[in-house]
Amino acid sequence: MSEADAETEADPEHEEAEAGGDGDEPIPIGVKLGSTRTVITIPEDDGFRTIKTLTCLATYEDVITGEEKVLYGEEAATEYPDRVQYTLRSGLPEDESRAELTSTFFEEVIRANDVPEDSAVVYAIPTIDNERGLENLQSVIEGSSIGEALIRSYPESLCGSVPALGDGLEAVDDIFVTVNLGSTNLEASAYRRGEQLIPFTTGAVTGNEVDRMIANYVEEETQGRVNIDNTTAREYKENHADFVDFEPFTDVIQQPGGGSHEFTIERSVMDAVDEYVDDAVEEIANAFLPELANDYIKVYQLALDRPIVLTGGMACIPGIVEEFEKRLSEELQREVEAVAPDEPAKSAAVGAQRIAERLVAADAY
Ligand SMILES: Nc1ncnc2c1ncn2[C@@H]1O[C@H](COP(=O)(O)OP(=O)(O)OP(=O)(O)O)[C@@H](O)[C@H]1O
Ligand SMILES: [Mg+2]
Repeated sequence: MSEADAETEADPEHEEAEAGGDGDEPIPIGVKLGSTRTVITIPEDDGFRTIKTLTCLATYEDVITGEEKVLYGEEAATEYPDRVQYTLRSGLPEDESRAELTSTFFEEVIRANDVPEDSAVVYAIPTIDNERGLENLQSVIEGSSIGEALIRSYPESLCGSVPALGDGLEAVDDIFVTVNLGSTNLEASAYRRGEQLIPFTTGAVTGNEVDRMIANYVEEETQGRVNIDNTTAREYKENHADFVDFEPFTDVIQQPGGGSHEFTIERSVMDAVDEYVDDAVEEIANAFLPELANDYIKVYQLALDRPIVLTGGMACIPGIVEEFEKRLSEELQREVEAVAPDEPAKSAAVGAQRIAERLVAADAY
């Protein structure tokens, strides 16, 4: 660990972090290991440093020494598209070899970015009913070189809601419903002062599915002339999906026999995200909320009088929060409000970091 890191001061806005301040405190860090991207938030100087990388790696052999080298993130994805591995492709490491790959990936990210080992680390973890996968993720977390002082895990949907509901940890004292719009799952829960109620997960409405739909629709829209892979479809979605002012865009493919073909996409991206919002609303209105009302009618009533918090990367699409709010209100035949944190793709790590800060301030390590 470098001197600079050891001397990093906690964010002055969060007074609780200063309370103990003898300089020997571990650094509070938030981590989200996601199937698409991994995000790490570290306090530094007067603010925060955020590391955000694709959760993938590729290995190659050093031509001189024969040593195995590891590349991760965007570099691995662009330089080695033929053998890059997304180690959490299904959301959690499904077996031991995936867990090992994830560890290799995570250690490389830690090393390359000088993430301090003398730290208290809170991990934002998905709510999925998959004991084996969760155990494997736990082994990755516990085997890592960071978090010497403390390691804790909290649900990703709680961590992700934290920055949406205040500048501190207001979310933990609140009652609310939250919906996480991720790559491999749609999750919903109610939280009552930090307690997770009625955790709901479906793999049927996902960012990955949207990518597949976009790829299919592009083929249709171009009368079969253009085939794109799911990574390109994801890029189209991340760069162009917009419920406020979508604009048709053009791209170019190389023809197998030489030459290139330029094409314009007018509908494929928005048709796919439009269906996604309908499907998400349908799951929340007709599967999750009835269950919540059934078991906790008071919590249901209190929570629906407050904003529903949308988190996860798909909440980044401009206008999706308003669209979700409008369609859910129609479906429920009552006004509901929806909000999202400023940076939905980072908010789980930001919220986890705030929880870590609170734990350090409370001398929980
Ligand atoms: N700016 C953006 N615009 C549109 N979509 C985005 C944007 N940023 C991320 N996404 C999408 O959000 C999804 C990733 O969300 P998130 O990072 O919350 O998922 P995850 O935690 O890795 O997935 P899961 O928990 O489902 O395994 C992907 O489908 C990604 O393409
Ligand atoms: Mg997630």
